[in-house]
Amino acid sequence: MVGMSGMKGGSLIVVGTGIRVVGQLTVESIASMRGADRLLHVVQDPLLSAMVAQLNPGREESLVGFYGDGKPRAQTYEEMVERVLSFVRAGMATCYAVYGHPGVFAYPTHEAVRRARSEGYPARMLPAVSAEYCLFAELGVDPGACGCQSYEATDFLYRARPLDTSAAVILWQVGAIGDLGFHRDGFDLSALPLLVEKLGRTYPADHVVYLYEAATHPGAEPVITPVRLGSVDKSVVRPMSTMYIPPSRTADPDPQYPWRDGAAPGDGPRHPAARVMSH
Ligand SMILES: C[S@@+](CC[C@H](N)C(=O)[O-])C[C@H]1O[C@@H](n2cnc3c(N)ncnc32)[C@H](O)[C@@H]1O
Repeated sequence: MVGMSGMKGGSLIVVGTGIRVVGQLTVESIASMRGADRLLHVVQDPLLSAMVAQLNPGREESLVGFYGDGKPRAQTYEEMVERVLSFVRAGMATCYAVYGHPGVFAYPTHEAVRRARSEGYPARMLPAVSAEYCLFAELGVDPGACGCQSYEATDFLYRARPLDTSAAVILWQVGAIGDLGFHRDGFDLSALPLLVEKLGRTYPADHVVYLYEAATHPGAEPVITPVRLGSVDKSVVRPMSTMYIPPSRTADPDPQYPWRDGAAPGDGPRHPAARVMSH
């Protein structure tokens, strides 16, 4: 079915629920979920999953069942994308909801938008609250203070990526490092010592890093574990941990572009914002 705009009848809108179970759903995401002919969702938390389901009863479907113990995540993602696209191709206004921000460290959501557009369907993604935005708030750090690099932990481990130690580093998916499958009872963390060794080539062993897990339920506190880099092991890493590495030095001024008054932005009072607030 092709409309007057030349676009086909089905459509896709991808939304995120935020990280907290309550309070981070945007008004436009709720409206998109409510108004869809078909609502597909991948939300692991049972309370949030039930809340999402009741936004569009009778037209919703959880895709969580596509995950399988030991099944490669790439296969799961492909199945999810094709399930979502099957409703778009059937001419339905389809909403695909995932937790967090749908475009942050999330392959199937981007792929669904790409595939829908390439097939001539209107598709878009709405922004939402990601784990990183919770981290900035709950650790009390500002990515604008010194800059901030953000890497997926497994990707960082296996690729040669130079780190700028004058800027902060956020490593995602440290709780699943080296493991491309899915395991309900926790991931295989046998690659974690390799990550510690690799970071140890750049930072001193006593540089304090933070394992962070956002509070997701009302009344709960975030789990923030400061630990010396050399002591990072399985005991401090949880499946949903994100690692925050504060800068270990101040950036050198660029002699080619001297500041007229001698003080570059980032010097002086702005620097403390890269240090984690005490809790
Ligand atoms: C597949 S990514 C999904 C990220 C999500 N789309 C977002 O917007 O935050 C999963 C990773 O996000 C981070 N993450 C998810 N939930 C978190 C939480 N409650 N606290 C801290 N980090 C979290 C962890 O690094 C985890 O391994």
